[in-house]
Amino acid sequence: MTDPSASGAGVATPVPERTAVVAELQRELRAAGLTGSVLRGLAAAAVARLDGAVEPAPPSWADEVTTRLDSGALDDGDLPALVRLLATTGQHRLLARTGVRFPAYALTDDVAAARVGPPGPRLPVRPRATGSWEVLGRRVGFPIGVPACPMTGTAAWVQYLAGNGFNVLTYKTVRSRAHAANAFPNWAFVPGVREPFGPGAPPVVRADPSDWVTPGDPAVTSTNSFGVPSPDPGVWTEDVAAAVRCLAEDQLLLVSVMGEDDGEGPAQLQAVADDFARTAVLAEAAGAPVVELNLSCPNTLGSGGGVRPPICRDAELTTAIVETTRRALSSSTGLVAKLSWLDGPALAGLLPRIAPHLDGVAAINTVQCAVQRADGTPTFPGRPLAGVSGRAVRDLALEFTARLLELRAAGGHRFDVLAMGGVTDPASAAALLELGAAGVQSATGAWADPYLARACVEELA
Ligand SMILES: Cc1cc2nc3c(=O)[nH]c(=O)nc-3n(C[C@H](O)[C@H](O)[C@H](O)COP(=O)(O)O)c2cc1C
Repeated sequence: MTDPSASGAGVATPVPERTAVVAELQRELRAAGLTGSVLRGLAAAAVARLDGAVEPAPPSWADEVTTRLDSGALDDGDLPALVRLLATTGQHRLLARTGVRFPAYALTDDVAAARVGPPGPRLPVRPRATGSWEVLGRRVGFPIGVPACPMTGTAAWVQYLAGNGFNVLTYKTVRSRAHAANAFPNWAFVPGVREPFGPGAPPVVRADPSDWVTPGDPAVTSTNSFGVPSPDPGVWTEDVAAAVRCLAEDQLLLVSVMGEDDGEGPAQLQAVADDFARTAVLAEAAGAPVVELNLSCPNTLGSGGGVRPPICRDAELTTAIVETTRRALSSSTGLVAKLSWLDGPALAGLLPRIAPHLDGVAAINTVQCAVQRADGTPTFPGRPLAGVSGRAVRDLALEFTARLLELRAAGGHRFDVLAMGGVTDPASAAALLELGAAGVQSATGAWADPYLARACVEELA
């Protein structure tokens, strides 16, 4: 299948197909009564919902494409704007029928709506490479996958991603008790950041919730503040079992878990470790072949309402969690620790303590940054800090993966590295695999390009 939605961001676009897609969309919109003015109204409502505006006003980016739609004058060049318009206004079924790329997760959905299932788009046949790879002691197809994120939070999503060729999937972090998400909105594109962060403190990042990056653009960066919501274990254990059942033999599911104490005062080390272990055992009993410990969340709110630093910065707590969980799980269940980017001394101090108990290390998580709207207020109201991922964190991920592998060799450890952070195209996946990662995963990239696994299979396998 070709890629008619590309805007020229490093992707060859066959003109006849774009023409056919625009013509098809124009026909379908007319048949559905979706005129330019109707879509302008829907876009105004969607943007008002995302940005929290009191008075909905049609966004300027919708003007030209809706005017041209009404005059029947749409052409190839309108496709990127048309995709933005239709994705923003919830016309996913219509888009999916044409095979164009659009973000797999709808920004206007709140967490509950997003759990219903993926809006698409889907490939008719799972892309597969000949050959197999070993990840965490299991044989898998080409080792690209999607890490813990809202796109892996239900069996329906896992099945969808697996069908699009993502073979190493980490079920979104779950807890031992139900936990509500942070307030809407929770996820946004960051169009202003197109280059990786350099060393040192990350800059203040600008993003408005209704911002957009063209699907498939390898320079995509995103920011999120979900706060690790979790359904009740009675719900997620059944769903994990369903997710395991829907995968092919050469696909692997990890289940990400997190523990907590009662939230009062300083973290109670053993209480947190025990809760991690309890949740891991629930995941194992549900059929998870591998459990991943989320030691890296940058969006957890403390009892005072502020954002807590990731657990892995606390070596004592992290070691207690890893040791307690390893003891609680059967020896045939894989154990992975998910880390955030840590500086040299922090990683060198932590890794020898946890590595003997681990089958894998997954890294990196999003990078905690100050994230603000164009008007200087927090992008996610009340939460001035949020996680940033995608292209922005690519160099940090490369550098961290290289250090992990050096420390593994120096210590004679055997864990696999599951690398992530800025995998948005085949070249960025290849860079991490060439360093020595056993597999790579992509959250931001797979959101912006649901066909990313196919491109990797075609170019790299
Ligand atoms: C919207 C969103 C939600 C995420 N939620 C989780 C989570 O629940 N648990 C976790 O371990 N990582 C979570 N992550 C982090 C990703 O798994 C990944 O480590 C990070 O985004 C870097 O990959 P990327 O650059 O491909 O996005 C989330 C990332 C995003 C974008």
